[in-house]
Amino acid sequence: MGISALKTIVPAPVEIIPAVSGKFVLSNLKTVSAAPGLERFAVEAVDSLRFFGVNAEVISGSEAQLTFALDSSLGAESWELVVSENAISITGGDSAGVFYALQALVQITAAASAEGPVPAAIECGKVKDSPRFGWRSFMLDPARHFQTVETVKRVIRMMASYRLNILHWHLTDSQGWRIKGGVVSDDACLNTMTSGAYTIDELKEIADYAEKYFVEIVPEVDVPGHSLGLATAYRNLACDPENPGIELCIGNPETLTFVKKVFAEILTIFPRSRYIHIGGDEAALTHWEKCPRCQAAVKAGNFKDLRELENHFMRQVAAFITENGRTPIVWGTGTPFDSNTVIQAWLDHREPARHIANNCKCIMSVHNSYYFDYPADQNEAQRSWMYSLPEEAVYMADPFVIWESSWKDHLLGPEACLWTEYVPDWRVIQKILPRLGAYAEVAWSQVAVKDYYDFRRRSGWLRAAGYEEYLRSLI
Ligand code: ACM
Ligand code: ZN
Repeated sequence: MGISALKTIVPAPVEIIPAVSGKFVLSNLKTVSAAPGLERFAVEAVDSLRFFGVNAEVISGSEAQLTFALDSSLGAESWELVVSENAISITGGDSAGVFYALQALVQITAAASAEGPVPAAIECGKVKDSPRFGWRSFMLDPARHFQTVETVKRVIRMMASYRLNILHWHLTDSQGWRIKGGVVSDDACLNTMTSGAYTIDELKEIADYAEKYFVEIVPEVDVPGHSLGLATAYRNLACDPENPGIELCIGNPETLTFVKKVFAEILTIFPRSRYIHIGGDEAALTHWEKCPRCQAAVKAGNFKDLRELENHFMRQVAAFITENGRTPIVWGTGTPFDSNTVIQAWLDHREPARHIANNCKCIMSVHNSYYFDYPADQNEAQRSWMYSLPEEAVYMADPFVIWESSWKDHLLGPEACLWTEYVPDWRVIQKILPRLGAYAEVAWSQVAVKDYYDFRRRSGWLRAAGYEEYLRSLI
C-alpha cells in the first residue's frame, strides 16, 4: 500500500534497491551529523526537512540518525543513500555528490510526508546514483527582461535541487547590456523591456552563490550580432554611425580591440568560469554589405565573402579566450571553428554532426526541444517563431537521439534556454518550474531508467506533496 518514497526521486537515479522489509519512521529523525568538512550539509538538511515537518538538530559525532560522509571511490557528483530502520546515511563521491543526495532525501521526505494519516516513513533500501552528462546546463536571458539578483539566485537554487550544474548567463543583447560600472557605459543598456543591470559586485556575489550550490557560471557577451545597444552607445563600432545596426562593424579594427577589452573584464569578474560564451548567432549581412570598411576588410584579407570575414572576427575573439586559459563557446552557425571552441547547437537536431565532423565539442540545445520561452501548453501566448514545448516534448528530447555511438565523446551535454522577450521577471519561475524536472531527467538520468509515464507519476506525487512550494521557498 501507498507510495514507495524511494521511487519518487527526480531526476531518476541509476539504481534503487529496496530492502525486503522495514521502514524508517520520519518522526524518529531527531539528530543529524556530518563528517569533518561536510558540516554545512547537516545544517541544510535540518532546514530543508523542517519544511516537511521533520524537526531534527545538528549534533557532533557519528551517532546521529542522519549522517553525511565522503567516499571518493564513488566518483565525481555520485552518491549513495542507505535507509535502514534506525538510520539514514548519505555518502558522496565529492561534496557535490553529498549535496545531490540531500536533494534526493528532501524529495523522498516530501513524498513520504504526503502519505496521509499514517506515520510518515521511508521504506528501507539503498539508492545509487551518478550523472549521465557532466554538463547539465540552463540559460537565463536578463538582457530582454531583467531578472533581479533574488530571481537569479532562486533559479540557481532550483537548478541545483534538480542536479543541474551550469548556468549560461546571456548578459548582453541588442536590448540590454546588463553589466554596470565596467568598461561599457550604461548608455549601451537602451532598448530594454525592463530596466536594471548588475554591478560587478552583484555578478561576483551571484557567481559565489552558484558555486556554493555546485553551479558554474558561463557568462555570455553576444557579438558581433545582437549588439544594437553597444553599437548605438559607441557609434565608431557601428557600420553607419548615423544609423547603427544590430551588428558591430567587423571591418573596423577598433571593434576587435574594444571587444577584447570587454572580454578581459569578463575574465576578471568570473575568474573561476572555465567557459566563456562569445555569442556569434544571427548576424545579418545587411549593414556589412553597405559598409565600405567591411567591404575593404574582405578584400584586404582575401576572404571569399562577408561570412568569412565574420568567421575570422569570431576566431580572433575565440583565440583571445583560449590565450587567457579559458574555453570559448559559440552559437552554431554555418561556419567552422577550431577544435578547442565548443559549439552550442541550436538550429536543428542534426546540427552537432556538422560540428563534430570538425572535431569540435558540442552542447545540444536545439530550439524546438530546449527553448523554454516556447509555450508549455496551448493556454500560453505563442509567437510565430515558437514551437509548442510541453513537458513530454522536453522529456523526449534526448541529446543523442539515435547518434549516441558517434556523438558521445563530443557532446558535453544538453542546455535548456529561457529567452525572455516575453518573460518578465515575475514569469521566470512559472516558465521554468513545470518543465525543469523533465529537463533534469534528460540531463542527469541514464537512458535505461528513463520512462516518461514513470516520470509523470513521480513528479505528480512530488507536486502534490508540496515540493514546488518548497523549491519556491529557497534561496
Ligand atoms: C539563438 O536562439 N539566437 C541562439
Ligand atoms: Zn562595417
